[in-house]
Order: sequence, then structure tokens, then C-alpha cells
Amino acid sequence: MANTILVGAQWGDEGKGKIIDFLTERADIVVRSQGGNNAGHTVIVDGVKYVLHLIPSGILRKGIMCVIGNGVVIDAVSLAGEIVGLRKQGIVVTPKNLMISDCAHLTLPFHRALDKAKETAKGKGKIGTTGRGIGPTYADKVSRVGMRTGELLQPVRFAEKLKARLDEANVVLKAMKAAPLDVKAAREEYLEAAKIIAPFLANTVVYLAEQVKAKKQMLFEGAQGTFLDIDFGTYPYVTSSNTTSGGACTGSGVPPNRISKVVGTMKAYTTRVGEGPFPTEDKGISDFLHGLGREFGATTGRARRCGWFDAVFTRYAAMVNGIDELAITNTDGLDTMDTIKVCVAYKLGRAKLEYPPSDIDALSKCVPIYQEFPGWKKDTTGARKWNDLPPKCRAYLQAISKLTGAKLAIASVGPGREQTILL
Ligand code: IMP
Repeated sequence: MANTILVGAQWGDEGKGKIIDFLTERADIVVRSQGGNNAGHTVIVDGVKYVLHLIPSGILRKGIMCVIGNGVVIDAVSLAGEIVGLRKQGIVVTPKNLMISDCAHLTLPFHRALDKAKETAKGKGKIGTTGRGIGPTYADKVSRVGMRTGELLQPVRFAEKLKARLDEANVVLKAMKAAPLDVKAAREEYLEAAKIIAPFLANTVVYLAEQVKAKKQMLFEGAQGTFLDIDFGTYPYVTSSNTTSGGACTGSGVPPNRISKVVGTMKAYTTRVGEGPFPTEDKGISDFLHGLGREFGATTGRARRCGWFDAVFTRYAAMVNGIDELAITNTDGLDTMDTIKVCVAYKLGRAKLEYPPSDIDALSKCVPIYQEFPGWKKDTTGARKWNDLPPKCRAYLQAISKLTGAKLAIASVGPGREQTILL
């Protein structure tokens, strides 16, 4: 397997965790390069469910090195909890299979409090964040006032800086009528977590460069999806990192000319959590999928908004990420549908659009132009080969790949490792 970036081609939750887990079989190293514990990757192995937030899914396979790169924002308490939780589930997590960049920025308790207070203050105009402090952490990073994981190794300096930053944040929190935070509690909680995390901290940039030289195979595990990208997403209803393929390089220090392939993951329909325009959103398909017990968030438990497959967005995703191959997940979610709609273009006034407009108000006014496909009305969860899938299902998957403009490589028909069809 060549050095591969895996990205979400929609609004996140495309089933990346499962596809990464599948591709990991042929990788030596799995790298996370952006986002934080706003992500939630669910992987089911031998009937056991693992929910990962910060640790790459590669941790579930033996002999794989997992790297959390410099571009990730790390809530140390949450990460320490994840390490302990995985160990309780029988997964070995040691510095031999997990490395954490010493210059990744730390999400601190006041980032979470500010995230929540800002959302409350926005009222109806809220973004619908996960409340994990992601935006305020990245804001501090680019404002050059952030704190980095390496500082956890210097408890005195860490405590001084934390106090100064927390005192500042408390002024803002009080002004926003939110409860101020206790410095001592924050310090103790973080220094306790630091004891668990410290052995994993390393200069991951140098490590990855050495592995590139040694021709090790790398898999970059994207979090969130293309339309939550801070630059290319449906701004301002986005997250605060570059979720597109370029983010894998800046968030890890591996240069672009060492990457050989980009794989895009998308669902056979569309979902979104949080606020923001969603042209193909449809109450019928939302009720249908929720009724099947599907589409509830791994991180927040929120019911996801659901809609028809939107090729206008995935076409843009294929372009901006340079997607070479597609993995389509949740095919089985449509097994009992009579008719399936696919948005092939938008109508905006008199114009027909092939790509989404960048202005959010214009996007809210777009009317989808649909093409209808007959449902296959057969259970696909037992399919293991392409030819096991009903012909109408194969036609649908090929059609949405063609509309997106990338080659279909993987079709997934359930959460299990074995429910993955390689074309
Ligand atoms: P934040 O990343 O918590 O700031 O949230 C910003 C937006 O991104 C909100 O609409 C969230 O629902 C969305 N978001 C963040 N992480 C994920 C994810 O892993 N899956 C889907 N949506 C996400």
C-alpha cells in the first residue's frame, strides 16, 4: 500500500474508522493529523465495539505504530482516559504502538468552557459544536498564545502558564455570565493526565521522516469531513481545522511529494450534525434511518440530520482533495428503500450549478435537481464480493461514484471488518 490519505467526502461520520481499520491491514503506521476529540470513530472487531476519539484506529491491530501528529489538538484528560479505557478492553497501548507529537496544542478546560459559552451566546445562530473546545484551542494556536503537549513535561512552567491563561479566560467567562473555572482543579487534573501521556511524547516529525526513508507504508486518518473544513467547508458552520487532504501534510510534517494516494469515504446517502445548510436534507429519510436505529453520533449521541446523496458536494470533495479512489459505506442502510434519490446539480434562480456556491446564503437557496434510482429491496449485509450485491445496488454505487468523479474501490455493507467489499 502506498502512503495514503483517507478523508471524509461529506460532513463527517462517513464511516472512516471502519475503512481505516480495513486499510490498516496493509499499513505500518497510522497517523492522525488534525481535529481533536470532537471526532468519534467506531470500529467493531469480532463483535466488540471500540469508540476512538483521539487515538488512531490502527491501535486495534498488532504491529502498527499509531502517531498523533502536531496538527491535532489534544485534551490531555480525555486522551489519558482513552488510553486507560482501551487497556481495560484488553488493547495494548504502549510507546511501542503510540506516539504523540510534543508540539500538538492542548485543549484546556477553559477552551471547553469558552466553546460552550460562545455557543450559548450565539443563541439561534450557534454552530452546533461538539462542545469539546476545538475552536478556542485552534484560535489560541494561531493567536500564538496556545500551550503544547511538550509543556506537560515541565510541571512548574505548565502550572504558571495555565494559571495566567485561565485567569484571562475567567474574565471572559464572567463577562459572558458563565461559571469561572478553578485553577487548582484544572492544574491537578492535567498534571495527573500528564503522567499517563508523558511516555508517549516524541518529535513525531523526525520519526515520520525516518519512516518515509525506510519505505514504511503510512495511512493518514482524516477526522471530520470535507465540508467541515475551515477553508473549503460550509463556513462558518465548520470545524476549525483543515479536514481535507492538505491538512494531512501540515498536521504531520510529511511533505506532499511523499504522498501517493487519496481515498475518499462517503456514505451512500448524506448526514450532517450541527447547524448549517444541507440542501438534500429530507425528513422522510431521516425518520427512516433513525427508525432503523441508525445515525446517532458516536461522540455526542445526537441524532444526525439525514438526506439524499448529494453529488454536487462529493464532486467538489473529489476535486479539492484529489480523491483517487472511493469507499462507499452504509450501503445496507438503503436496503429496504423503494426509490432512492440522488442530487445531480442545484438550481439557484435560473442558474444550474455543478458545484456548491461558497456563500452560505446562496447555498441555503439552492434547490436540488434529483435523479431517481430503483431500490434493490434485498439484504446486502451478507455480501462479501462485488457480484454478491444485487445488480440494482451495483448500478447505484457505480452511478454515485461516476457523478462524484472518482473510481469506486470499496463498498461497505455493515460495521464488521468482514462486511467490506474490495473491487
Ligand atoms: P467543533 O468541531 O466541535 O467545533 O464543531 C463544529 C462543527 O463540526 C459542528 O457542526 C459539529 O457537529 C461538527 N463536527 C465536529 N466533529 C465532527 C465529527 O467527527 N463528525 C461530524 N461532525 C463533526
